[in-house]
Amino acid sequence: MTSIDVQQILENGHEAASNALNAFTEQLSSLEAKMSSEVDSEAHQILRSYAGNTKDKEEAIPGIVHPGATGVIYCTDRAQANGFSYGNPEWANMGQGAPETGDLPEGPPRLHNIDLSQWGDGVNEYAPTTGVKELRQAVADYYNRLYRQDKASQYTAENVCITPGGRAGMTRVAAVIGEVYCGYQVPEYTTYSEMLSVFKKLVPVPSALSATDKYKLHVDTLKKEIQDLSLGVIVASNPRNPTGQSIAGKDLEELVHLSRDKVTLVMDEFYSWYQYPDDPKDLGKTLSAAEYVEDVDEDPVIIINGLTKGWRLPGWRVAWVVGPRSVISAVSQSGSFLDGGASHVLQMAALPLLEPERVKQDIISLQKAFREKRDYALMRLKKIGLEVKIPPQATFYIWLDLSGLEEPINNGLVFFEELLKEKAICVPGIFFDINPAKRRDLFHSPCHHFVRLSFGPPRDQLEKGMDAIERVLAKHKHSAHLMGKKSASRLIPGANPHTSK
Ligand SMILES: Cc1ncc(COP(=O)(O)O)c(C=O)c1O
Repeated sequence: MTSIDVQQILENGHEAASNALNAFTEQLSSLEAKMSSEVDSEAHQILRSYAGNTKDKEEAIPGIVHPGATGVIYCTDRAQANGFSYGNPEWANMGQGAPETGDLPEGPPRLHNIDLSQWGDGVNEYAPTTGVKELRQAVADYYNRLYRQDKASQYTAENVCITPGGRAGMTRVAAVIGEVYCGYQVPEYTTYSEMLSVFKKLVPVPSALSATDKYKLHVDTLKKEIQDLSLGVIVASNPRNPTGQSIAGKDLEELVHLSRDKVTLVMDEFYSWYQYPDDPKDLGKTLSAAEYVEDVDEDPVIIINGLTKGWRLPGWRVAWVVGPRSVISAVSQSGSFLDGGASHVLQMAALPLLEPERVKQDIISLQKAFREKRDYALMRLKKIGLEVKIPPQATFYIWLDLSGLEEPINNGLVFFEELLKEKAICVPGIFFDINPAKRRDLFHSPCHHFVRLSFGPPRDQLEKGMDAIERVLAKHKHSAHLMGKKSASRLIPGANPHTSK
């Protein structure tokens, strides 16, 4: 208590005393609500209570080191602890990086039945780990048709390997990267830092993209990094998860040219279809490094894509790696000891989905429907007071900067916990940083003031999600504490059942 307060008490008696005391308590509460490190935050303590998320190396079972519970698994687990279940109509899942999977206006009909008898008993056998030949050819044709019509060098089935999903494709590639420095930029798709660290031969070298620069990957900066750090491989999602920005046109062309200076480019192009061009004549355009590859067998460019996002079939687990024949032979080999290949049945069922007219119709309907959802989400966020300064030009993610809000909800992890109480899910930004579970203090993460919102779900879910965000902000106005300050006496709601201690 300050000397002025004491004087007031003495001079003005009881009323002044109680006023001064109230003011002091208020001051104390607002100080308490200010968080400067993890120890002050209940939301962070919950995260740390999960197996694998302590800062020190754990080895409860001999030889087993838990990779840490972050990303969508953590978000879903926390959501379930707060009452979420898949298909529950009361919830809005803006966390999971998945597109809606039903019919879209003007889109081709979705597949509802698969008749196995059309392929005979052979379809019950293993498929080759490189994938079914017809599908490999269909994928090669897709790239030649969309991006390489005027090029002499064309992809063939030998330039394509089918994999059981995109992550399996990436893992197969990572398994054949030798002892080199492998560069990637954060924020980036969560899986990369975790996966790259598993392959001990390669050394992951992360660098940061800056918000002031709209998260743009500058080819000049990259060139310098390649030289200064002797990078042998660059991995990037393009369009980028979570920022929704992409390298396109001249920049992408330059990047592909850069690869000829002996650096292999691994381009994850899962969001290639999710483009929102301002000019209506660009509707239907998609993006791929394949457009700038000169010689398909010489240029060190590896492309990964699949049915997961563009075709909106994440459950099928059918994806592909496209690149020089020698690379495809290597990833076919790594697939034989890593995953054994994609489902034979679903590879056969995928064939009609790559037919040219169907693909065209699919892309246009997707771009229209997702643009409408993006614009709706941006409009609602602006109304709520959370204007997005760097709106997504691609993907179905909004990288939402909370730093303009007051503590504690300006922190992505706290915001995430508060949103769960309103039956909506987002992903805290820290999960897009490098190895977040092992960071000493997550408050030091550059992604700490962010959350990622997905406008993948159908419009009605998105509306519920935006209403939920509005309620969190309104609630915060009336209560300074929320999940911010850790209180020893408060029960942590749904605290983790898998806690390691
Ligand atoms: C950039 C990126 N690549 C790959 C994937 C995953 O692909 P899959 O589910 O086929 O493993 C995702 C999913 O979120 C992604 O965001």
